[in-house]
Amino acid sequence: MNDGDSKLGGEGGDGSRQPVHRPVLLGEVLAVLELRAGLTVVDGTVGAGGHARAIVQSIGPDGVLVGLDRDSEILASARATLSVGTDKAAGAGARVSLHHLPHSRMHEALAAIGQSRCDRVLLDLGVSSLQLDRPERGFSFMADGPLDMRMDADAPVSAADWLATVDEQELADTLFQLGDERYSRRIARKLVEVRRRTPIVRTSQLAALVVDALPGAARGGRIHPATRTFQAIRMHVNDELGELARGLQAAHDCLRPGGRLAVISFHSHEDRAVKHFLRAKFDVLTKKPIEATLAEVQDNPRSRSAKLRCAVRREDVA
Ligand SMILES: C[S@@+](CC[C@H](N)C(=O)[O-])C[C@H]1O[C@@H](n2cnc3c(N)ncnc32)[C@H](O)[C@@H]1O
Repeated sequence: MNDGDSKLGGEGGDGSRQPVHRPVLLGEVLAVLELRAGLTVVDGTVGAGGHARAIVQSIGPDGVLVGLDRDSEILASARATLSVGTDKAAGAGARVSLHHLPHSRMHEALAAIGQSRCDRVLLDLGVSSLQLDRPERGFSFMADGPLDMRMDADAPVSAADWLATVDEQELADTLFQLGDERYSRRIARKLVEVRRRTPIVRTSQLAALVVDALPGAARGGRIHPATRTFQAIRMHVNDELGELARGLQAAHDCLRPGGRLAVISFHSHEDRAVKHFLRAKFDVLTKKPIEATLAEVQDNPRSRSAKLRCAVRREDVA
């Protein structure tokens, strides 16, 4: 699933207008990773290539950027941002190698370019704005679309498939555990009752059913009442916590001793998993997670819940 290689020169990007996902905590990520010329860097969630573009500029012509994403559509945006396969790509920048793979399989991406180890790994978890902004991907309650939510379109089970068969108790537990949804039981009861008559297959339909299930007082508030339900279903359908655990282990195994891992998470369960893993297996550089400044939050509201942690890979124990 190697998506192509390039040499990236200068500014990054081919000068054409690409869809925008603004990288979160960009300056902070570059600082904690201590990038320098010639490093091999794995961006395990390359997305639209926002972080990757800046990384490529920092590691120079002797550096290698290996980018992975489990979403092939997004990978096409990264290819455009990083000029893979264009004339501009023949410049003097770092080599870029893109792969349609989950980050838990980063060793395969490294093997494809003849390497077994790398110097830096970045994981920027969650969804990209490009995924949220496309109603046909089914991630958002803000616009109607098929209830899909798969990051990898080849994955066997969509959100609609799962909702059609999941047991009421398991659904309630998932909404509670992955969405912190206090009305998880009411919502699960409602969805299971409705699906006996009508399949739940559209994002707008699910959002309306969630609102319907809530007591009147819970329908207002700062965030849309379906936010937690959508988050929980998305995290379940993509096994995001399982994938995170495997990706952290893969990063540990692929990094050279002294190499650095930086992880940006957007969810308390993810941040907890990252914190515990780093404490157990790495020398932690960020005792407390780094968060976005007020100015960044105002400029890019998606950065509001971002937490960045960074750590150094220990020496191999003989
Ligand atoms: C927040 S976006 C990354 C944005 C990117 N840093 C940028 O600056 O454009 C997260 C990306 O990670 C991808 N992703 C999520 N889980 C993944 C996994 N387990 N393996 C590979 N990619 C994953 C998503 O498809 C999405 O494109």
